[in-house]
Amino acid sequence: MPVDRSVLPPGAAVPVPSRRALLRAVVGGATGAVLLDPGRALATPAGAVPLREPEVRRSAGGVLDVTLRAARSAVPFGGARRTVMSYEGGVPGPTLVVAPGDVLRVRLVNDLPHPTNLHTHGLHVSGEGIADNVFRHVGPGETADYEIPLRPDHHEGTNWYHPHAHGHSAQQMFEGMAGALVVQRREETGRSTGISRDRVLVLSSTAFTADGAVADPFTTRQDAQVRLVNGQVRPTIGIAPGETQRWRLVNASVNHVFRLRLDGHRTTQVAADGVPFRRALDVDELLLAPGQRADLLVTGGAEGVVELRTLPVDIGFGVVLPAGPVATVACRGAAPAPGPLHAAALLRPFEDLRRRRVAVHREVAFTMAGGFGMDGRPFDPTRVDQTCELGTVEEWTVRNETGLVHPFHSHVNPFQVTHVDGVPVDARSYQDTVLVGKQGGTVTFRTHLQHFPGRAVYHCHFVTHAELGMMAVADVVDPRA
Ligand code: C2O
Ligand code: CU
Repeated sequence: MPVDRSVLPPGAAVPVPSRRALLRAVVGGATGAVLLDPGRALATPAGAVPLREPEVRRSAGGVLDVTLRAARSAVPFGGARRTVMSYEGGVPGPTLVVAPGDVLRVRLVNDLPHPTNLHTHGLHVSGEGIADNVFRHVGPGETADYEIPLRPDHHEGTNWYHPHAHGHSAQQMFEGMAGALVVQRREETGRSTGISRDRVLVLSSTAFTADGAVADPFTTRQDAQVRLVNGQVRPTIGIAPGETQRWRLVNASVNHVFRLRLDGHRTTQVAADGVPFRRALDVDELLLAPGQRADLLVTGGAEGVVELRTLPVDIGFGVVLPAGPVATVACRGAAPAPGPLHAAALLRPFEDLRRRRVAVHREVAFTMAGGFGMDGRPFDPTRVDQTCELGTVEEWTVRNETGLVHPFHSHVNPFQVTHVDGVPVDARSYQDTVLVGKQGGTVTFRTHLQHFPGRAVYHCHFVTHAELGMMAVADVVDPRA
């Protein structure tokens, strides 16, 4: 039998970070990268640079066939032309748009000097074989085909793709390897929703060395990074008074929490993590941890120029991510008129899992004693940490035993948060990523392990932490198989 060399046996060639890298990654160290000091980076004057949106590749006839070539090349990134690792020569990579029931076929060409692979973050699809299988690595110079069928009842919303080859993804993502992956029904039109246009806003955060290269995320402090929208520094987003746009926000950063605020315009959230809300929510502030997405309806207020800002976020260990502008919103002109807004057309009910019988209660913990891990041990792709049964509803409590916040993310099945720090919450939708408070913070959720048996991971979505071991494996077993 021929051996597919792109499918490494689990555990093969997984680089082990040094103890020094591990210590530095607690919050990043001062060594290594020469950083713009945060004050100066954030004071970058707003140019009149209009927001650039990534190229869109849309499915046709039920299939999206796309090649994503990962390579190092010179691209506009962070206010200059820089040689970085990217997909298809752009940061972010192309926006992929599929409909429920479509098949997503990606030919991943790895022209990087190290392994990579592809994760479709937020899709409820198989994590096995040549689908969303993060255990499969694609070596340098190799090409691998992915085939990812979506169910006809797949949620509509904003997801994203990024590399997930353990030991390599933090640097690849710090340089800009990420793109939006939108699930949208073909029938949806501006007339049916009242939305004049969709915008994809891929948020990231990075740092540069003195010679303009991208720094090492393991040596970069989380509070000393340059925040970017679609790879740009403070681009200008245009809107007209009374016009409603849908902003598909993705936090594609390695380890930056955004807390967004936009004054003077109406902001209504209709989906989180690629899952429609059951009721719309007017928001003043939007907390977006790495990995999370929000579909936000923005209705232009009075004419004028305001900043889309991020507010301070205390991530623990005395580190506060500083406030600062992320983009400029320029409101002027006459609204295009697709018709009145029907936000309700975007909302969907979901099954309330609080009413379901729970098969198993589990508790998992973020731990740092002895190194980054879950439940006191570092990631081992050959080990199964949780064995679950397909078709059941489980209740998990994620406990944070560390002095830093951590975003918890699980693959394949989204979850319904029921309690935060023991206090009941009434979730508006399922989600796949949730921030867990420091020093004993807990999040309890229920998840319906549906449709897809097999092994998948759950982990901290501060990608540096995941790379250092804050990740584990759940195996969903089909009892009938
Ligand atoms: Cu966005 Cu396991 O990752
Ligand atoms: Cu973490």
